[in-house]
Amino acid sequence: MTPSIGTPLDRVDGRQKVTGTARYAGDWDLTGLAHGVLVTSPVGPGRLTSLNISAAASAPGVLAIVTHRNAHSPHAKPSQFTPHRTDHTYSPDTLTVLWDAEIHYAGQPVAVVVAETLEQATEAAALIRLEVEARAPRLDLAAHLNEAYPPDQIFGEDPDTKRGDFEAGWHAANTRIDATYTIPWEHHNPIEPHTTIASWEGNHLTVHDATQWVYGVRAVLARTLDLKPEQVRVVSPFVGGAFGCKGMTWPHVVCAALAARAVGRPVKLAVTRAQMFGLIGFRPTLHQRVRLGATKDGRLTAIGHDGTNGVSALGTFVEPVGQTTRMLYSCPNVWVRHRVVDLDTQMPTYMRAPGEATGSFALESAMDELAYALGMDPLALRLANYAERDEVRDLPWSSKELRACYQQGAERFGWAQRDPRPGSMRDGHLQVGWGMATATYPTYRSQAAARVRIDEDGRALVQSAAHDLGTGAYTVLTQVAADMLGLPPDRVRFELGDSDLPEAPVAGGSQTTASVSAAVAFASKAALDQLRDLARRDPASPLHEADPNKLVASAGHLVHTDSPERREAFGDLLRRNGLPAVVAERRSVPGDEENRWSSHAFGAQFAEVKVDPDLGTVRVTRFVGAFAAGRILNPKTARSQMLGGITMGIGLALMEEGVRDPRWGRVMNADLASYLIPVHLDIPHIEAFFVPEEDPYVNPLGVKGVGELGIVGAGAAIANAVFHATGKRIRDLPITVEKLL
Ligand code: MOS
Repeated sequence: MTPSIGTPLDRVDGRQKVTGTARYAGDWDLTGLAHGVLVTSPVGPGRLTSLNISAAASAPGVLAIVTHRNAHSPHAKPSQFTPHRTDHTYSPDTLTVLWDAEIHYAGQPVAVVVAETLEQATEAAALIRLEVEARAPRLDLAAHLNEAYPPDQIFGEDPDTKRGDFEAGWHAANTRIDATYTIPWEHHNPIEPHTTIASWEGNHLTVHDATQWVYGVRAVLARTLDLKPEQVRVVSPFVGGAFGCKGMTWPHVVCAALAARAVGRPVKLAVTRAQMFGLIGFRPTLHQRVRLGATKDGRLTAIGHDGTNGVSALGTFVEPVGQTTRMLYSCPNVWVRHRVVDLDTQMPTYMRAPGEATGSFALESAMDELAYALGMDPLALRLANYAERDEVRDLPWSSKELRACYQQGAERFGWAQRDPRPGSMRDGHLQVGWGMATATYPTYRSQAAARVRIDEDGRALVQSAAHDLGTGAYTVLTQVAADMLGLPPDRVRFELGDSDLPEAPVAGGSQTTASVSAAVAFASKAALDQLRDLARRDPASPLHEADPNKLVASAGHLVHTDSPERREAFGDLLRRNGLPAVVAERRSVPGDEENRWSSHAFGAQFAEVKVDPDLGTVRVTRFVGAFAAGRILNPKTARSQMLGGITMGIGLALMEEGVRDPRWGRVMNADLASYLIPVHLDIPHIEAFFVPEEDPYVNPLGVKGVGELGIVGAGAAIANAVFHATGKRIRDLPITVEKLL
């Protein structure tokens, strides 16, 4: 039987998606469904001095208005709320939703209006009158850099890392770069805005939610509403994009649960596109200083990376910009520091490759600056500092085909034809620029569980509370299960996105495939072992008394390896033994491999831009990304991830910028007309491909994550291309017309 792993299987959920039968969070038409609309504070911070709901309360169709006055029982306490502490599960203010009259940030919910229809709820919400005694918001990161302080930790690690002697390496350098790079707020804009339907049956709460983490939402709701986790079920089989913004649980989820409890009916609460900008976390605004010292021949003698990001007074989120700086290049003297500054916003959060996408803009721009200062080719500079092992953890790589990425990417792009002089290449009156950068993303894996059922009809049902954010998880996990069970993929059904299923981790850190596929492999083996045992003990089976170690699963049969004519279909075996199915559930946990090898995916990004010198407009006209990410389970869905990552990188480089009103704190461009993200016409032909990479150590299937890798380095490759085209080094993203003219 030909393996399914490695083939470009079409999305198994593709038909459901294009025919509209895939149900997203807002698509569940529950009996008695009522509609909730959030009222949010237009300003912040401040204090709610007046909240007049009388006109709204008597508007047609209104069932309830939930505010801080009636949302909670008088005895409830926000017991777990500790400012500046975040355990990466919670948005801290979910623990204090509709709690009191304090407004922490513009966009904070102050009321939920529930009505029979969405139109009635929307109408009534507009009738609510509120007054806020506003305080001047702290929003300007640059103005408060002197108040930066170190966060407690980054994923359990120290926010500062030192290797060797930075000062000595800096002074010994022949050539030095000391530059500061800034990135504004960026807001996730998945096609599907956040939506929650909450329904209660007695003390049991079910939510249909758009989330990257059904178990995380369950934990937050249980803790916030004083329930046991078993009293909460979170369902999320389809998610219309996420990019990190659906990783934590934001206040609207709690609002939906409170509203449903208030009216005793299911309530659907859809966050509007405009509300998402203030209410939901975003990529923090960033200030980065990078210092590079090198010898005349381009060997790095010192790397310094100081990152500072804005956080919320409500809680800390560190954008770990320097974490990959520590390991990307060989260098004896490295000093990385992370600092945060309190600002008056919602808490920032994970956004595609948090730290890597942003940190690589700074580091890889600085590497380009260094290449020019040395008169060296940017790719040659990277090869001269190629890290043969992970120097921060002092470990060998589990695999690293970055050199092949550089070589094959450069070849496909035609890098050798580049005239290095800025402004030297032209297409008519357009300035042409070629730039490159390195990509890397760590391979994460968490414990995960899966259940496998093989039925008497010879089909299999495989279940795990994983998530498919549009990434293709349904498809690749089906392929893994099919191969492990010896079944064609069309006889395997994968169920995910439900907290009643065996636990899987947050679909973040590009870890779903690595984590869940290992659990699927174990559970599949356990289910097949039950069939092997059944065959061995069954006198009527052609495999009676066969050595179980010699029975392999292929095309829905157990087959004896020594004499393949001895075989039996799974279904025949089950039926004859009067069993409707065999079921096995297994958990996989990361092993010692994490301590023995350092595992990262890598890539090389090459961009061509054309700049109109009269107008300052930049077009990305070609892009080549060469990646190494271990074993590629499905080249079609994996390539799509890289295309999406590069596209988002083009947005980071040229378009995305959240702008806040300095007086009132609110996001002024909270819509897709003024917050720009790439559209089809902005995106050139992108050539993204994988170089072969075998990794026997990283995890049982040899896979690395692909969800975030594609955005890393893309911003710098474009900024470097803009410099090559124009001679202008733009260190402040996005690279807009004003900055180029
Ligand atoms: Mo990703 S930003 O870890 O969801």
